[in-house]
Amino acid sequence: MKDTLTPRQIVHELDKYVIGQNKAKRAVAIALRNRWRRQRLPEDLRDEVMPKNIIMIGPTGVGKTEIARRLAKLVQAPFLKIEASKFTEVGYVGRDVDSIIRDLTEIGINIVKNEMAEQVQGKAAALAEERLLDLLLPPLRPAAGSDVLTEDQQEQHKGTREKLRQQFREGKLDDRSVEIESKEKVMPFGIISNVGMEEIEMNLKDMLGGLLPEKTKRRKAKVPDALRLLVQEEATKLIDMDKVVKEALQRVEQSGIVFLDEIDKIAGRETHGPDVSRQGVQRDLLPIVEGSTITTKYGPVRTDHVLFIAAGAFHVAKPSDLIPELQGRFPIRVELDSLGKAEFIRILTEPKNALIKQQIALLGTEEITLHFSPDSIEEIADIATQVNERTENIGARRLHTILERLLDEISFDAPEKKGVEITINSAYVRERLSDIARSEDLSRYIL
Ligand SMILES: Nc1ncnc2c1ncn2[C@@H]1O[C@H](COP(=O)(O)OP(=O)(O)OP(=O)(O)O)[C@@H](O)[C@H]1O
Ligand SMILES: [Mg+2]
Repeated sequence: MKDTLTPRQIVHELDKYVIGQNKAKRAVAIALRNRWRRQRLPEDLRDEVMPKNIIMIGPTGVGKTEIARRLAKLVQAPFLKIEASKFTEVGYVGRDVDSIIRDLTEIGINIVKNEMAEQVQGKAAALAEERLLDLLLPPLRPAAGSDVLTEDQQEQHKGTREKLRQQFREGKLDDRSVEIESKEKVMPFGIISNVGMEEIEMNLKDMLGGLLPEKTKRRKAKVPDALRLLVQEEATKLIDMDKVVKEALQRVEQSGIVFLDEIDKIAGRETHGPDVSRQGVQRDLLPIVEGSTITTKYGPVRTDHVLFIAAGAFHVAKPSDLIPELQGRFPIRVELDSLGKAEFIRILTEPKNALIKQQIALLGTEEITLHFSPDSIEEIADIATQVNERTENIGARRLHTILERLLDEISFDAPEKKGVEITINSAYVRERLSDIARSEDLSRYIL
């Protein structure tokens, strides 16, 4: 089970994608494990243990968001990543902070719903097959004048149905079309779709539920598509939504994680100008982080034990520029290191999704075999470091721009060069990039 990963295992998983940044990986790994430990405490003690929220501090492009993204894939807990700068103070146009918890709840509901859908998959598939056969071969009706079916008729019908079933299972009916019905609730009046309005419309639809008129749409679909739809419908019918909601709310409250990216963008304690609203957002965030009850359409959700991981570059603002109450709620601070040549070499080659591997695979689709000699990788890392030093340090993001520039020509000509094998060496890298890298002006624009 994913939720029983030890800190060491979590770090190991993160290592597959993120190079270095060990302190940050350790901090999030410990925080996750602490959730698991807390679940095992007696109830009275469990309620006392508050999550220890984390702030990740580090320059741009060094892996903060990447750690969060990989963590999200790793844990099965409800996980939401959101930019703090998206929020504006209560009363202003924009998203209000409560939507964090509403969105997190929505994610929790989906996780649990999918799990339960998987459990009923077999049953749903069987039911869907019957319905599909009904569509392919409508049930017999007694002939005019009589009100019963003869045994013969019934037997024959049954036989045909079983023959069809056989053919269907062998995929022989995949090209046939059937007519399916789908029901859809319609709003009796039009609401203009505006930012935020969509959510209101969705909520209204949910609330009015059965009161809304149902529109039945008929359309033709190929057998495999129809089957997929029917399985989905049957699964939905089999799932007990009350159970889903109960389980999901429990999971959100007990193991939900919110990743608040770009938190430095709402730091600042000046009392005039745009900072007033930044401070306002911080004040709005405070109750959620401290623990409060948020109303969602599935019911109230307590946030006391939701884990918050914040991240920011803190170039201008410092964590100490956050309002004290909020600072106090993020007791764990980890700094990420800025990246140099040695890390760049590893980032280029080691991760499962390493940039070099991506480029080789992409050009492989054009039947071009691309190789990078070790000295070429070193040269690329070197140039990236230089440009970062000379212009602006954008961390590993620099590797993206440099690689694109490097491969620009090969990439353009690729379709005409099928079957060719190309080795990139350091001379080629220098030829393509040195002039640009040497000129500060040029690199500002191009790299
Ligand atoms: N340590 C690392 N290991 C592997 N790849 C990295 C690392 N750091 C950054 N990258 C790559 O660089 C890109 C940018 O990284 P990321 O989004 O994590 O930056 P960030 O630290 O969140 O920066 P910002 O403060 O600007 O949001 C990503 O595509 C990621 O793959
Ligand atoms: Mg980021």
